Amino acid sequence: MNQLKIRRPDDWHVHLRDGAMLAQVLDHTARQFGRAIVMPNLVPPVTTTALAEAYRGRILARLAPGRTFTPLMTAYLTDGTDPADIAAGFERGVLTACKLYPAHATTNSAHGVTDVWAIHRVLERMEKIGMPLLVHGEVTEPAVDIFDREAVFLERVMSGIARDFPGLKLVCEHITTEAAVAFVLGHGDRVAATITPHHLQFSRNAIFQGGIRPHMYCLPILKREKHRLALRQAATSGNPKFFLGTDTAPHAVETKEHACGCAGVFNAPVALESYVTVFDEEHALDRFEGFASEHGARFHGLSLNEGTVTLVREPTVVPERIAADGIAVVPYHAGTTLPWRIVEAKAGAGAAAG
Ligand code: NCD
Ligand code: ZN
Repeated sequence: MNQLKIRRPDDWHVHLRDGAMLAQVLDHTARQFGRAIVMPNLVPPVTTTALAEAYRGRILARLAPGRTFTPLMTAYLTDGTDPADIAAGFERGVLTACKLYPAHATTNSAHGVTDVWAIHRVLERMEKIGMPLLVHGEVTEPAVDIFDREAVFLERVMSGIARDFPGLKLVCEHITTEAAVAFVLGHGDRVAATITPHHLQFSRNAIFQGGIRPHMYCLPILKREKHRLALRQAATSGNPKFFLGTDTAPHAVETKEHACGCAGVFNAPVALESYVTVFDEEHALDRFEGFASEHGARFHGLSLNEGTVTLVREPTVVPERIAADGIAVVPYHAGTTLPWRIVEAKAGAGAAAG
């Protein structure tokens, strides 16, 4: 198969940033995806319905003319989150989900939740109204090895949330380990996961190949090869619990190439090209549409997109840098050639009945 036409996909985990960086990166997501779940880790974070509504307005104002793209907003949970505000935001259609960052787990997460007990009333309310909880699943204790933080979180925190809130919809975001795949498979339909292109394509060796490679540093960090293989199996299995979430996380080049470089892979410019390459290598092109365009929408109870994206087996040359307005960002796969290319994206009239 040298050409693949799929229903327009969605990205269930993006960092769109704000201000000049938002203007720089937005169209890389909007040109291929119909919708995207927008992460709230701005400075200061998007913690309320009002802040999410204002942020959504800034995103929509930056859309290129003619683009039909819907940002789906999230609220960043803190120990002080008001359940009534979150519920009102969900009911009004401003918020799609809440995001749980354990305090200090990653970029701009200093305000995150210190203990799940602090937000139990929020989780109870979310469970009641059917609002999903998106989880950055890593413990933050410095004593826990960085490569073990996800597995330890599943054991110590996530299994307790799943047990105590048996009706709460849970997304284990950007999963990186066999343990996470097993956790998702071991729970019912209301527990799902997103998987990034970089965790499907690279193991932790890539961070140290011939020297230190800051553009391969992200959180959760890349893991051993056996974990990458487990993720590839899960993503291409056709199981609707697994769906696309790029975790595209742009940082200006000088903050990545630094003595203390930021975590994040800017994969939006080549997201579909990267994922389709994985499905092609795994002889699972027939399952790509489910992973990219159907499973996430169904989990969230949203209709499927209308419109299509067509990919062809022709080389994409990835630039070394993408620059605008004084901000240069190094994209995922910079300076290499990928075997697939997007030829056409047709927006359609919005979302269809799913
Ligand atoms: C993200 C960022 O830069 O905002 N970085 C990353 O490595 N993924 C934060 C996050 O999602 O962990
Ligand atoms: Zn993220």
